[in-house]
This record gives sequence, C-alpha cells and structure tokens, in this order.
Amino acid sequence: MKVITRILCLVAVIVVALPLTACQFAVTTEEATQSEQPVEEPAAGGKTYSDLVVGFAQIGAESEWRTAETNSIKASAEELGVELKFSDAQQQQENQIKAVRSFIAQQVDVIGIAPVVESGWETVFQEAKDAGIPIIFVDRKAAVSDDLYTTFIGSDFVLEGYNACLEMSKLLGGEGKIIELQGTTGADPAIERKEGFEACIAKEAPGLEILDSQTGDFTRAKGKEVMEAFLKTYGQDIDGVYAHNDDMAIGAIQAIEEYGLKPGEDIIIVSIDGVRGAFEAMVEGKLNCTVECNPLLGPQFFEAALTLANGGTVDRWIKSNEGIYCMDVAAQELPNRKY
Ligand code: AHR
Repeated sequence: MKVITRILCLVAVIVVALPLTACQFAVTTEEATQSEQPVEEPAAGGKTYSDLVVGFAQIGAESEWRTAETNSIKASAEELGVELKFSDAQQQQENQIKAVRSFIAQQVDVIGIAPVVESGWETVFQEAKDAGIPIIFVDRKAAVSDDLYTTFIGSDFVLEGYNACLEMSKLLGGEGKIIELQGTTGADPAIERKEGFEACIAKEAPGLEILDSQTGDFTRAKGKEVMEAFLKTYGQDIDGVYAHNDDMAIGAIQAIEEYGLKPGEDIIIVSIDGVRGAFEAMVEGKLNCTVECNPLLGPQFFEAALTLANGGTVDRWIKSNEGIYCMDVAAQELPNRKY
C-alpha cells in the first residue's frame, strides 16, 4: 500500500472511528489480494494445482470491474496450471445454473460462482453438495444456508456503502440531496451498498437526503439512461450522485455533461470499484471519489479451491483489501492501478 494511502487510512480510522474499516482490511489481506502471485503448493501427498479441475460460473461482462475479475481468474489458473472450465452467463441466472449443473456432470473438484442475484440457488447448490463438490462464492454471495457453500471470497459491501456516504457527506459539507444509482436488482452488492449508505445517513450524516433511487444494472449505458431521466425530473436540485459502481457513475457523468452541468463540481459524484476509468475521470475532475472493491480474486480463489480439494477447511469469509481514493490522489495513483 502506498504511503499516502496508509496515511489516509489512518486518518479515516481515527476520524470515522468505525469498529471495522476498509483500512483495517488492508492490513490483513493486502498481499494476497493485491498481487497475482501464485501461492504455495500443498504438502506432499495431496493434490497440487496441476491436478485441480475447477469450474467457474461467471455473471457476464457488465462492467470494467467484472472484466478485471475474469482476467484475474483466468490468469491465475494459467499461471498455476489449474484446469479451468469457465462459463459466462451473460447476466442470466438460468445460464449460471446450467453452468453449475454442467460442472457437476463433469465432476470438477470445486465450483466457484459469483451469483448474479441472491435468491433461487438452493436446488442446484444441493445438487453440488450431493455430488461432493464444494461451492465457493467469489465476489457475490447467495442467500442459502451455511451448509450449501464453503466460503465467501470478497468485499464488505455494507462497509463500502457506508464509506461512500461518509465521503459524500464530507464533500457536501454535511448537507445535500442525493440521487442513488443502484446495481442489479436483487444482487448482493446492490442490496448491501444501499444498506450501508442508508445506515451512515441515519448514524453520521443526517443532512443527506436520498431524493430518488433506481437501478442502473451496474452498466454504463443504463447508468446514463437513468441519470438522464433523473436530471429531467430534478435538474438543479441534485447535489450528489451515489453510484453503486464506477461504470454507472461514468454513464451519469456523460448525462450530466449533456445536460449542461459540470460533474464533479455542480454535482458531486461518489462511486464504488476503483477501476481505471474512475481514476481517469477523477484526474479530469469529473468524479470526486471511488471506494475500492478489489476484483483481483484469482489467487485467493485457487488457494481456497486447492485446500478444499485436499479435504481442508477455509475461513467462512476471506475478505478483500479495499482503499478509498478521491480526486486529490488520483493522478498519483493512476499509474499504480492494476485494473
Ligand atoms: O459484485 C461486484 C460488482 O459487480 C461491482 O461493483 C460491479 O462493477 C460489478 O458489476
């Protein structure tokens, strides 16, 4: 972690005094999540990476973040010599369910999945359990009983939403009317990022008011479309935009510019992910802050898969390292971004 980020994290911990902050995560899991380095092979006698056959049921390619996650999974598999069966569900839950069934039929060792929405998974995960194949949630969780999955590798979405609200409140001097662009309806990060932001308003930022809130499906195109509609309805009344991901924020920036206002100045924008596009927008002065959500989960995923394939146990939640980046550090941080 950069020195400046450490200082910012330290200040955030002191000022915010949250029981658990993104900055604390950074200390515990930094190396594993920020690097694409392969992890240690297991002790003699067990399976090695080159024996592993792993299925991964990806959601699709809806955002820069998702593409980075896919690249991390594929690159790690190649580096480690794992046989990866990869499926892109093109945003459809039924395609993810089909992929899991196909992985079961092929008797893979472990299945990784980023469930597109939280509900509707019990039957297919029970089938995996009956076949003795462990399920790992990568990035997103499903609302199923504990016995149907082994671990969740990913972020604290509630905390991300909470931190986004704190940044928004600081930028608006504690008061303002906010438009919320939500992620995919029913998706874990959309539900929890909303929850976190609202919890922060209730607890620490009572001067912020959510004027309106609608899904932009985590995509740039939908973020722009929804923002255009909000601008028609609320126009100059909008003080801030809280977008559940950077892609929707970038779509909103385009809508605000076309409307004739200055994003980042006339309307403050805070989003989540920390993709390169967000850093470029911050350098241009059009996006105010991004709360990082780390997509480089490949190394942790395969490490957990190998442990499980060898009959071992892993933590129920393997957390990601996250920072918070605002305009003032964007130019300096941009060259260091890995996604
Ligand atoms: O589940 C993580 C979210 O999904 C990311 O924030 C978003 O960009 C992606 O599409």
